[in-house]
Amino acid sequence: MSVPARRCSIGVLPFAAVLPVALSLAAPTAAPFGASNAADTASTATPSPHAAPSPLATIARLGGPATVAVEGLHAFSLAAPGLPAKHRRAFSVGNAFFRDNWVIAPASAEGRDGLGPLFNANSCSACHMEDGRGTVPLEGEVGLGVVVFLSPREADGEPHPTYGAQLHDQAIPGVEPEARLRLDPVTIPGRYSDGTSYELTRWDLAFENPAYGPLDDVRHSMRVGQQLVGVGLLEAIDDGTLLAMEDPDDRDGDGISGRAHRVVGADGTVGLGRFGWKASQPTLEAQVIAALHEDLGITSPTRPHEAATSVQSAALAAPSGGSPEIDDHKIGRLAHYCRVLAVPAQRRVGDLKVEQGRELFAATGCTACHVPELRTGANTPIEAFREVVIRPYTDLLLHDLGEGLADDRRDGEASGREWRTPPLWGLGLLKVVNPDARFLHDGRAATIEEAILWHGGEAEASRARFMQLDADERAALLAFLESL
Ligand code: HEC
Ligand code: HEC
Repeated sequence: MSVPARRCSIGVLPFAAVLPVALSLAAPTAAPFGASNAADTASTATPSPHAAPSPLATIARLGGPATVAVEGLHAFSLAAPGLPAKHRRAFSVGNAFFRDNWVIAPASAEGRDGLGPLFNANSCSACHMEDGRGTVPLEGEVGLGVVVFLSPREADGEPHPTYGAQLHDQAIPGVEPEARLRLDPVTIPGRYSDGTSYELTRWDLAFENPAYGPLDDVRHSMRVGQQLVGVGLLEAIDDGTLLAMEDPDDRDGDGISGRAHRVVGADGTVGLGRFGWKASQPTLEAQVIAALHEDLGITSPTRPHEAATSVQSAALAAPSGGSPEIDDHKIGRLAHYCRVLAVPAQRRVGDLKVEQGRELFAATGCTACHVPELRTGANTPIEAFREVVIRPYTDLLLHDLGEGLADDRRDGEASGREWRTPPLWGLGLLKVVNPDARFLHDGRAATIEEAILWHGGEAEASRARFMQLDADERAALLAFLESL
């Protein structure tokens, strides 16, 4: 597949010679680090800067100028360094809207009432724990980190006539929650070429106590809330850059096609999808409007009616928190908050094992989709994010990852087998930020290694090469992924 012209800028590193990308001596983008960072941070986040090599190697700046040298619980919660004061203030306001619980209407909580009537969680942060990944409800809990999209069997991709587009497992008093989600584990044994055995687990979904009629013969797609670091940088990549990486008919014959997801966003934007596991929303505003509406039950100027179908009469009659329950200004603050979240720096850069893993990541073909380096365009309100080199390890394109990961439900133009390549920045910190974090779209993989073993379809050849590595090589590749 064709990759757009890359510009790799790199510091003075002993391992530079082994890097699989072309090198140039372009000057690194200067960004304030360490000390100045605390000032750019909302009061709720306690940064724990570690002793990073100084100056931080350019290649470790996964988020370019939006990189911060942090690890620990709050590693995903900092604003990009060097933002103007008005952007820092907007970040703090957005942060409060992101973390605080919405409450049932009517309530005195100024501008924070209107939760539900049907909903999944009462705050954004419930599903994006400390701005990281949501928790999978293994014991049937509610309000953790997943959503389940629904379609009737006979109308793939359409909302369910009775239950709507998303299962709501919580409701305000007087309204029945739609159903309880149950995950029944299925284990699948396997073996590496060197004889080492492993076991993978996925779930069969069951819907208990459906309150509005039968819910057995449906198409469904369970997704876990993602880490939000760097989403503003992904938004800043030009459409042209994504289109240049597409190869829908696999003209270069490498077995990997990849196509951009053309969508109409929840905010009405027609463009290329970037957000969500199937790249179904094109802008952060669109993602926020959709989350407010379906996940929290908060109406907005764009989505003025509650997410309830005509048969859910108690829900339709429930008191409202205002019409609409949130205005565009607050939606803008929430989108801004997500947009400027900083990316933690890569750790252990230069470590022999990590650098061997970096080579194996390219040699096994992972970089065909998890593209190490991209350049943003000029189309972003954040000046510092314009025309900069970032290392997201994604192409943001849809790929067919095979039957094993397919969920049999269309989402826009994405088929049940297609998934957006997820960015890998922050990967090694996911479990630091949320110890219950898991991998892949439905969190079925308990470890990074399991996530790789689930790859199929366009990634089948790459997975096969991984299977043939010996134990030391596998450990090196995993050490590299853990350093991201
Ligand atoms: C009930 C759980 C839940 C709640 C509550 C929730 N989200 Fe999400 N969020 C998700 C899931 C699941 C996805 C992936 C959606 C998909 O695959 O289409 C997601 C995706 C996102 C993304 C895109 C990330 C990426 O890398 O593409 C952003 C940004 C986001 N959410 C922001 C928010 C904001 C802001 C709120 C509050 C208004 C919120 N979310 C509330 C579960 C949730
Ligand atoms: C054909 C494109 C493609 C190739 C090649 C590929 N991946 Fe992926 N990768 C994806 C997609 C798409 C997903 C999301 C799948 C899902 O969630 O169901 C993914 C998910 C992952 C995840 C889980 C990320 C998360 O946030 O949970 C990891 C880790 C990963 N890939 C690593 C690798 C490694 C290592 C290789 C090489 C051995 C590789 N991938 C090769 C497309 C690819």
